[in-house]
Amino acid sequence: MSKILIKNGNLVTPQENIKADILIGDAKIEKIESKIDAPNAEIYDASGKLIFPGFIDAHTHMGIPIRHTFSADNFESGSMAALHGGVTTIIDFTVQDKGESLLKSIERRRKLADEKISVDYALHCNVTDLNEHTVNEIPEVIKQGIISFKAFTAYKEAGMQLDDEQILDLLWHVNIAGGMVMFHAENGGLISFLTKKFIQHGKTDAQFHPNSRPPEAEIEAVWRLITLNQSINCPIYFVHLTTAEAVQIIAAARERNQYVYAETCPQYLFFNKNDYKKNNGHRLIAAPPFRNPDDNIFLWQALQQGMINVVGTDHCPFTIQQKEMGQRRFDLTPNGIPGVETLFYLLYSEGVKKERLSLQRLVSLIAEEPARLFGLYPQKGTLIKGADADLVMVDPDTKWKISVDKMHSDIDWTPYDGLEINGKIKSVVLRGKWLLKDGKVVTENLKQGQFVPAPV
Ligand code: URP
Ligand code: ZN
Ligand code: ZN
Repeated sequence: MSKILIKNGNLVTPQENIKADILIGDAKIEKIESKIDAPNAEIYDASGKLIFPGFIDAHTHMGIPIRHTFSADNFESGSMAALHGGVTTIIDFTVQDKGESLLKSIERRRKLADEKISVDYALHCNVTDLNEHTVNEIPEVIKQGIISFKAFTAYKEAGMQLDDEQILDLLWHVNIAGGMVMFHAENGGLISFLTKKFIQHGKTDAQFHPNSRPPEAEIEAVWRLITLNQSINCPIYFVHLTTAEAVQIIAAARERNQYVYAETCPQYLFFNKNDYKKNNGHRLIAAPPFRNPDDNIFLWQALQQGMINVVGTDHCPFTIQQKEMGQRRFDLTPNGIPGVETLFYLLYSEGVKKERLSLQRLVSLIAEEPARLFGLYPQKGTLIKGADADLVMVDPDTKWKISVDKMHSDIDWTPYDGLEINGKIKSVVLRGKWLLKDGKVVTENLKQGQFVPAPV
């Protein structure tokens, strides 16, 4: 493979911005210096561009079963959306069928991704059927390079919820094996109860969705899980947090030296519960729901202050037609919205450009911190010698508007229609190969995404 010399870029790292050249050879970053000469390399002038390490979306769901349908992006279409958003690595989830072994669920998921995916990927191992057999598979799962295990405290109706004793069992075994447990933290009993009450009283519209999954459902579950884990102290990670209170509980636990990490998603920074009252508000139904404008403000501050470690997207899109399933009854609408393509744009344009977030925090939240937490660092998530040459080059001041025709997910709408974006991704490199060059997809380099195991 020929070398590439990226000249005159402005490299964004968690510490500072650095003016430097980058030499790429053999899929890796070979050298970063203020001035490099490499006569035989392809030279690319990145003057005026910000250069980031390829972004990592630590939370995607390509083609998962939800409410008798499947999320609309499979690994092929979802990875096209990812690459247009500068995401060169996604971390998706296995789907464990009832009675299925964890190892089998990994094998099935990998078959769906390999040879179809255009960005690199890693996996979290969903544990929805915990029993004597599956618990004993945990060390072997970790040997296969999957170090994070996800549990749900809700979705009993879908057979996914674990009870407290099962959660303790999981924490115990994962901790011994050296992994981490991730939680979708909502009190499932409270949600089932409230949902039934709303439906019984004819309150079926999307505006009741946030009331059926109230903030207390998240706050209670986060507090309970941290409490359950107190004596075990397994590293734990909370996905898609929405409330100030839950983030504060996590921050307090971290101060007591518990290994607790927090993730939120762009939608919880951007939308609030009143958006469900708008025209087509049912399309925004996701779990947990959007909260109060005050939570949006708090979450932005928590990102900047480091109380939140990662922004993942929970990318789980459905078409307009799929979102009509159940005739707009909030409890029958498939949960989830798209996100992988707009991850960087929302954080950069709404965050950095509006002075809510520094460039240094941005690159930590969607590159270095997810790489470190999920065992991909320093192969991914950083611009240093020896790392995979995954690069994103951004024109910092190009203005454009989001519309469905500019998006690459396999759906026919976008939650962000009409939003003005400041900044444009021009080029993306994955392991030293151009995926996007000056705005054009390099088709011969597609579908070459690889599984990235965490080293054991
Ligand atoms: O509504 C959501 N978040 N759908 C995806 C599945 C999940 O719970 O993360
Ligand atoms: Zn979830
Ligand atoms: Zn999710």
